[in-house]
Amino acid sequence: MQSLADQLTQLTPEELIQLTSGADFWHSKALPDRHIPNFRMSDGPNGLRYQAGSGDALGINESVISTCFPTASAVACTWDPELISEMGRAIGHEARSLDVDMVLGPGINIKRNPLCGRNFEYFSEDPFLAGMIGAAWIKGLQSTGAAACLKHFAGNNQENDRLLSDSLIDETALHELYLEAFRIAVQTAHPEGIMCSYNKVNGTYASDNSYLLTEVLRHQWDFKGTVVTDWGALNDKVASLNAGGDLEMPSSANMFDPEALKALNAGKLKAAALRRAAGNVIQTAEKKRPAFTGEREALLAEDGRLAQKIEENAAVLLKNDDQILPIRPDQKLLVIGQMAAATRYQGAGSSHINPPEKSTILDGFKKAKMPYDYQPGYAFSRENDDQLAADAVAAAKDAQTVLVVVGLPESAESEGFDRPNMKLPANQNQLIDRLAAVTPNLIVLLVAGAPVELPWRSQVKGLINLYLGGQFVGDAAVNLLTGKANPSGKLAESYPISYQDVASADLYDRNPQSAAYAESVYVGYRYYDKANQPVAFPFGFGLSYTTFQLSDLSLDQSQIQADQALNATVTVTNTGDRDGAEVVEVFVGNSADSPLKPLKELKGFQKVFLKAGQTTSVTITLPAHAFSDWNDQQQAWQLPAAHKTVLVKIGSDQSQLTAPVDVRGQSLPKKELPDWYVNPVGKPTLADFTTMSGLTVQPAITAQPGQYTRLNTPRELGTHSALIRKITSILKNSMTKGIADPESSEAKFMETIVMDTPLIRLAQQSGGKLSLTLVNKLVAIANRHYFKGIFDR
Ligand code: BGC
Repeated sequence: MQSLADQLTQLTPEELIQLTSGADFWHSKALPDRHIPNFRMSDGPNGLRYQAGSGDALGINESVISTCFPTASAVACTWDPELISEMGRAIGHEARSLDVDMVLGPGINIKRNPLCGRNFEYFSEDPFLAGMIGAAWIKGLQSTGAAACLKHFAGNNQENDRLLSDSLIDETALHELYLEAFRIAVQTAHPEGIMCSYNKVNGTYASDNSYLLTEVLRHQWDFKGTVVTDWGALNDKVASLNAGGDLEMPSSANMFDPEALKALNAGKLKAAALRRAAGNVIQTAEKKRPAFTGEREALLAEDGRLAQKIEENAAVLLKNDDQILPIRPDQKLLVIGQMAAATRYQGAGSSHINPPEKSTILDGFKKAKMPYDYQPGYAFSRENDDQLAADAVAAAKDAQTVLVVVGLPESAESEGFDRPNMKLPANQNQLIDRLAAVTPNLIVLLVAGAPVELPWRSQVKGLINLYLGGQFVGDAAVNLLTGKANPSGKLAESYPISYQDVASADLYDRNPQSAAYAESVYVGYRYYDKANQPVAFPFGFGLSYTTFQLSDLSLDQSQIQADQALNATVTVTNTGDRDGAEVVEVFVGNSADSPLKPLKELKGFQKVFLKAGQTTSVTITLPAHAFSDWNDQQQAWQLPAAHKTVLVKIGSDQSQLTAPVDVRGQSLPKKELPDWYVNPVGKPTLADFTTMSGLTVQPAITAQPGQYTRLNTPRELGTHSALIRKITSILKNSMTKGIADPESSEAKFMETIVMDTPLIRLAQQSGGKLSLTLVNKLVAIANRHYFKGIFDR
């Protein structure tokens, strides 16, 4: 067989360029005359969204049946890499059973703010947990021969305006928080692909960002795979290839190929960069991937059981006063809530799965043959709300135990847009208040892919957070309620009391074109801990039906030097009368006066299963990296000279054991920073952010006629032009045609794809239907170069 270098030498410049442009919505380009095959991509990450043929993704919900696993925010709460590796493996087999080569997942972005519409698709606010769970998923998937495409690299932490936003992130937060999960996943699991995100990072689009794609990814992390653009995220083909991008997806009908050829001839597109990109695409396409040889039906049945098991290990028991849970299987419950009959089990957008089977919570009760009465209590549509609530309250007066199922409606959680606030629908909160007034025995099941405010939490005895639990959430919920499954999930993110408690609350989504990450590293528990800000439920927390005790922390050495590791050993005992699993969580602590350093950061964990009464010893290794800081000047992690601590706790008990560590690294000059970055109380200011980071925040500008470019969205271009509004409304109607419910997340997602995508990006994804000429004309109309005065307003 020919070497890759020989193959590349024989290709013409045109062919090399063609290889870097997708062939359709899901395939790379094949060159049959050169015996170069294509490769097929399909969405992940909580199942396989396989659209038959070259499908152009219109009708995002049309896809072949596959297993719907719990979404990432639930998956991370398992704190169980081995189990999540099984999930990756299962998705890999499903992919190979349909000849899919690359699965677009997992998504690993840090949950900077609870309102991000896509948080249900991401793992955690903590990079170590996100990185380790993501790596496990990738290893499992790639063990089947399918390739993973880790996404969305990088700084993609909001959905509103995701194609226009510029994430301004200081170097410490960038490396220690936002890139760290990617680094862990790349270096431990070696994904074959990585997807660059839509947004800019510090002024440069991720697709054109040579610092991210070459310096960090390829040089610092030694990534050997293929960089694929998010769908329509390519900004400038020449800049992207030069910067380290390989494959433009989906096909833009070769919109930019002529320009790339010209640039190559003029020496502006580097020949070596083009060869690297084409070579990476060829390598991915030519890789021999074993076929799946089993029965697809049997595979789906097995994976369905795995999906349920993962949910049973993910759901988080947040409250259990008076041990109201577990309920006895013969104990008759009054079940209240429309969510019990129409239980959400996934979020909306490109991760949407069509499962072969599913169970609502009421289905779960029926299947388990458990007695229950049911009252809807509220309706998502809010029709007959008063009557529904009154009936539920009347029934609750006579019931011994009441189970209320609440959560976010389907239209709240989607790719493409953020939530407007952190609240549950008001009718659900009011219902719980009214129920609490008539019965003390309330258990709540929460169904939502991201944190919500829980104003009634002190009025209920039991609370289980199911997140979005996959296709068999109903069966899993019933097993958890009855104790057939003992809850062992621990929160992978903090639950603030109210949205205003979030460090980024005042800045998030206010000025996307210059989105200052002013809180820097103080995200999630890194902020709440140091700001002394109480939360409803902390990161890492989760109860069990049994009790555990942690004791005897010892370190095998009390100091650490570069290239060394230390072992922390603890004893965990199941002190209750049921078998169960607990998570040992190991943090490294910093002194309170350290600038840009949280009080503690997660650096190790292990889930352990213990029989009632059993004791075990757990040893967790902390490499020097766990004690290191990012040194931007050296572009490397560096061990400081510092006094740090190892802190160990378990999920069900917030008290911690500590041991000091003398960190023997290099002494670095202390940076003078605004006080907020030492002592982050209240909210950061933009002025302090600029002083700390050196990054300049631009004021928000609304373009006016005369200033529009191809990077403006139809919504923006239509502000002053009735004609543009007319044209875009025709386009919007054609995209949302076939969607029955105009209020559904699918309709809202499609609307935002049309209205909030820069015009040039829409053209890139239109498969040639929206030409460059038309794009330029529309911009000219919006700028009033044509039809001046006729269609204005
Ligand atoms: C999403 C990606 C997804 C791609 C293909 C994009 O809009 O951001 O996560 O993989 O579409 O469906």
